[in-house]
Amino acid sequence: MPRGFDGRLCFGGDYNPEQWPEHVWADDVELMRRCAVNLVTVGVFAWSRLEPAPGRFTFGWLDRVLDLLHEGGIAVALATPTASPPPWFSFAHPDALPVTRDGVRLVHGSRDTYCPSAPAYRTAARRIATALAERYAGHPALALWHVHNEYGTVCHCDHAAAAFRDWLRRRYRSLGALNEAWTTTFWSQQYADWEHILPPRATQYLGNPAQLLDYRRFCSDELLACFREQRDVLHELTPDVAVTTNLALGPWVPVDPWAWAPEVDLVAIDHYPSSVEGLDAEQETAFAADLARGWAGGGAWLLMEQAPDIVHTGGRMVPKRPGQLARLSLSHVARGSVGVMNFQWRASPGGAEAFMSAMVPHAGPDSRSFREVAALGLELARIGHVDDPVAADVALVWDAHSWWALQGPGLPAPDLDYWAMSRAVHASAWRLGVTVDVVAPDAPLSAYRVVLVPALFLTSASTASMLESFVESGGHVVVWYLSGVADATVRMHRGGSPGPLAPVLGVRVERHYPLAPETTVALDPDGTGSSWSELLRLDGAEAVLRYADGDLSGEPAVTVRAGRAWYVSTSLDDATQQRLLGEVFAAADVAPAAPAAGPGIEVVRRGRRLFAINHTDHVAEVGTARLSIEPGKFVVANY
Ligand code: GLA
Repeated sequence: MPRGFDGRLCFGGDYNPEQWPEHVWADDVELMRRCAVNLVTVGVFAWSRLEPAPGRFTFGWLDRVLDLLHEGGIAVALATPTASPPPWFSFAHPDALPVTRDGVRLVHGSRDTYCPSAPAYRTAARRIATALAERYAGHPALALWHVHNEYGTVCHCDHAAAAFRDWLRRRYRSLGALNEAWTTTFWSQQYADWEHILPPRATQYLGNPAQLLDYRRFCSDELLACFREQRDVLHELTPDVAVTTNLALGPWVPVDPWAWAPEVDLVAIDHYPSSVEGLDAEQETAFAADLARGWAGGGAWLLMEQAPDIVHTGGRMVPKRPGQLARLSLSHVARGSVGVMNFQWRASPGGAEAFMSAMVPHAGPDSRSFREVAALGLELARIGHVDDPVAADVALVWDAHSWWALQGPGLPAPDLDYWAMSRAVHASAWRLGVTVDVVAPDAPLSAYRVVLVPALFLTSASTASMLESFVESGGHVVVWYLSGVADATVRMHRGGSPGPLAPVLGVRVERHYPLAPETTVALDPDGTGSSWSELLRLDGAEAVLRYADGDLSGEPAVTVRAGRAWYVSTSLDDATQQRLLGEVFAAADVAPAAPAAGPGIEVVRRGRRLFAINHTDHVAEVGTARLSIEPGKFVVANY
């Protein structure tokens, strides 16, 4: 928890006073107080203001900002500004500029212009982190350290190449083991010397999937080493202040949250839903929050960034619907976030993100969005932090490595989207009102009744045997297509998928039939599949649904073994998937968080506390005692 926040929820956002003249700062604090802001993240991109020349620090302005905030009763998550080195840095250390896979050396003029493996970058990052910790160790406003911003930078330069080779040496120990793991006999890639191994730079044709996957893993570990170096400095100089970093969610992010979570004092995520269709944003928010809680081991975590007033849908920024900010925020809190932080406090006066929404928009405080922000702040102050764990009988297995492998070259279809697949499974449970914990592939499962396994592309024998014991001891498991395809080095399982999951599921996949976009295949007795289909061989399981047209007509599409181990070989339409999960939940005795909540009513139970959010435009009646919730509103009640 941020220091001083026991029992209180955090509310605030990124605050960038360096973008404004000083006379605005007092207005800021006054406005923050009006909307019950109690925590702001300061200095995320302020490196060039804090260290305008190498080793010359200008802390005076930051002293005044922190003093002012403290006088206003507002605590500070102090950032280390290492996501954006200043121009002087790249001139002094051109070798620390990042190189793309095509060999283009990027220059400053944006942000994240550094190579994580460059010694000069690491030294400069430690120096500014140390200087900040020495300066502000005793400052009463300091509540939390916010290291860096959304770690995710990838570089392919010679520094990165050397570090990658070191990482590979530690992982494989011998070139023989590496050659085996990377299947280098294919296309004459056998390595005879460690020095010949490169990052996955641009190649003539498809790259090596195992090399690409290992590079993602290396990037995750290398960035984690960057984080650790700063964290250790901060821990040493300010032992009683928690250290975090804001994890980004997205296919581009080479960070394995399961490996990072134990390294931070508080898991923090940024979340920006990407669709305004129907209840997409609501369902995605619940999924992101459940992921964060999973990474936090079921405990407290913090929503470090969300957009106060827009949803980014591709390149288009669409305003949130009335009340949606509060509803999405409450969903995060219900699912374990200890606060609601936003990007950002005041809209930037210029620069590349001037059109991003802000708690104080360009239009100023006399605006609908500011009024919603203020109402939310006051509401959160009233609710306070709930310690009770989120109650869930269902787990969903989620794996960053499978996500990365499913972005690899040479896959049977170009649109295999792990995020969408796992989200669709989570959304079905969401629509049924059932709360889901997200767990790692090696997590203990005994606390659950049902385990959902979407597209676990890389499945190890140990994960398979844990699932097997889970089913043997009475648990129910549902596995979706593209699970059990390969091992950790993207070597295909002998006998085809679902590989080591075949015995527990009682099926084998003989052949893949990827479906063209926008096409569906009919199922018997009802429902449709899309995206993907498979020719299955039953080996102990029985068919529950069959394909009803095309080449697979009459063949099994959904199967079950022993009434508890389900396999789904296509992307089911929402209604069919919901029906299937409804059946599984009923058989496993899994009930929704509140009976009779109905579609669009999100309910999460935390001990005696019930969070109920009405995402619909009609009055909702929740639970046996008929808790009534106005359209678009929420209640937090003992129930
Ligand atoms: C990210 C970053 C912020 C800002 C926002 C804009 O989450 O962390 O610095 O760029 O996106 O949406």
